[in-house]
Order: sequence, then C-alpha cells, then structure tokens
Amino acid sequence: MKLYIDSADFEELSNLKNSPFVDGVTTNPLLIAKGMKKSEVGDGEYFEYLQKIRKLSPGELFIQLASSERDSAVYEIAKIRELIRWPVVIKVPATPDGFYAIAKLSKEGIASAATAVFSPGQACLGLAAGAKYIIPYYSRIEQMEQGKGLDVINEIMRITSPDRLLVASIKTEQDFCILLKEGVKNFTVPYSLFCEMGKNSNTEMAVANFAENLKVNWSRRRK
Ligand code: G3P
Repeated sequence: MKLYIDSADFEELSNLKNSPFVDGVTTNPLLIAKGMKKSEVGDGEYFEYLQKIRKLSPGELFIQLASSERDSAVYEIAKIRELIRWPVVIKVPATPDGFYAIAKLSKEGIASAATAVFSPGQACLGLAAGAKYIIPYYSRIEQMEQGKGLDVINEIMRITSPDRLLVASIKTEQDFCILLKEGVKNFTVPYSLFCEMGKNSNTEMAVANFAENLKVNWSRRRK
C-alpha cells in the first residue's frame, strides 16, 4: 500500500517528518491557494511557495498545473522543473487539453498523473496519453453519481494496473477501508483524516495503563 497526504500546508507538511511511512504528498491549486493565504504569501511568490513545499515534503511530490491553457502550461512545467530540481509528478486535470499536456510530458520522460477523473473513459485517455497515475475523486463521484463511487472505481480498476491508480477525495476512515477491501493500493488523504485514523482514546487509555503498571527505571539502562 502507498499512502500520500493531500496537503500544501507548511505546518501539516512539517509534522509529516514524524511519519516516515508516508510515501509522499499530493497538492492541487485549491490546497496551494489555502496554504499561501494561511502563510500570508503573495500571488507573485507561487513558485517560491512550491520550492518550500518540496523541501518539507517527504517522498514523492505531486504538483498540479495551475494553468489550463496549453502555452502557459508549457511555461509552467518548465518553471517547475527548473526551480524544484527534484523529480515531481505533474498532475494534470483529465480534460482534452490535459491529455495533450500528459502526452507531451510522457514524450519528454516526465512523470504525470491524470487527475480529477470521474469516469472510466477519462482513465482510458489518461493511460493512452501516458500518465503514470490515474487519480479518481472517490467521494465526489459518490456524491454526484448517487452512491456509484465504488462502481466507477471498480470500472477504472479493471482497466488500470493497481500501481497506477491513486484514489483521492477520501473523506472518512470508512471510505478508506471500503476502497482498501476493494483492492485499491494507493491512497491520498487529507492530513486531518490521517491524524484521525491514527488516534483512538481506548488505545491511549490502554497505553496509560501499561505505563502505570510497569515502571522501568530507564536511568539504569546500559549504554
Ligand atoms: O487532490 C484532490 C483532492 O483534493 C480532491 O478531494 O476532498 O476536494 O474532494 P476533495
């Protein structure tokens, strides 16, 4: 299983240093806009903000194109590669222009992901264009297709190798477990859900009880 955190928040990313089992970070323009606002970073410092995210992020980093026009996307990709100087996966929305950009990236040997995928057809075109990953939005599909989220994910799983499917828009622990049972191997979750899944008050009580009952004198340990 691979676990990514969907975040562009400096504080959250800094905390991930204590979680070496996190495989990487996924961002999108909305998350970056929120992070920039919180850190009081001006619009003109977008690329500097990306550089800082790179420094804080463990593992593989996904950066989504902010531009939807072909020409500005070409400029943006060049700028990201020049400034980040580290392998990043370029996320590209699964639109006609997006598939064009994915195909160009693929020809240049740059890893990309087709994101905001809502249908098996988009997944097919993403794969045909050469995307390394296909990123469907599970909860949003579930809401829009009235409970058909899992059917769509299953359809996409039939045409994509499990290693290339990365499911996003996961809102609850239950969503996560359902997808895992269904055979999904790669997940990206918000930092809040990641924290929530790692905490249980009963475990905390059990740990406190262990500590109360076995008092080891650690000062006498051998060096
Ligand atoms: O990165 C994709 C992800 O942020 C979409 O999730 O929670 O906005 O539906 P959500």
